[in-house]
Amino acid sequence: MSDQRVDQGKRTWLIASSCAGVVGGVATAVPFVSTFTPSERARAAGAAVEVDIGGLQPGEKLTVEWRGKPVWIVRRTPEQIESLKKTEPQVADPNSDRTQYPTPEYAKNQHRSIKPEYFVGVGICSHLGCSPSDKFQAGPQPSLPDDWTGGFLCPCHGSTFDMAGRVFKNKPAPDNLEVPPHVYLSDTRLLIGEDKKA
Ligand code: FES
Repeated sequence: MSDQRVDQGKRTWLIASSCAGVVGGVATAVPFVSTFTPSERARAAGAAVEVDIGGLQPGEKLTVEWRGKPVWIVRRTPEQIESLKKTEPQVADPNSDRTQYPTPEYAKNQHRSIKPEYFVGVGICSHLGCSPSDKFQAGPQPSLPDDWTGGFLCPCHGSTFDMAGRVFKNKPAPDNLEVPPHVYLSDTRLLIGEDKKA
């Protein structure tokens, strides 16, 4: 059903993510928000997307589409925010200095976001474009280290990211997950695709 709504840009990442057969999982487990403010045509041209995050509970993730890409909004729990201190020495670019996907200045911090509680990131692996899976539960589990504190796992070649989308050391992904331009219009409304400088 969601296939009927894909535009050309989205098709690109769906195809890219099919290397691990995750298309169905993405389409069914993460429904796209259907109440976009801009028109469909404006969205296809890359218009900013306004999102209501008022109903998002701690530990939950919302996915919206912006410029044909899935953008994740994660409301982190206090434990998940705390976990970023532990992963700090384990990630390859803790300060988001790498430039393949330049991180906006306001997200160049440990939580890679404007507000520590919310992470906003593009859900596409910086290696070859698969869509990583949520692995928010801490502790030992398949394909993850025993001291896992929560984050994302790319099923294609095993890159792992912490709860701020920071890639762990010695993984194929060359960069952290992209943080798109975004700005809060209010406590519960987020604009993805523009920031204050736009
Ligand atoms: S595409 Fe993610 S690890 Fe290769």
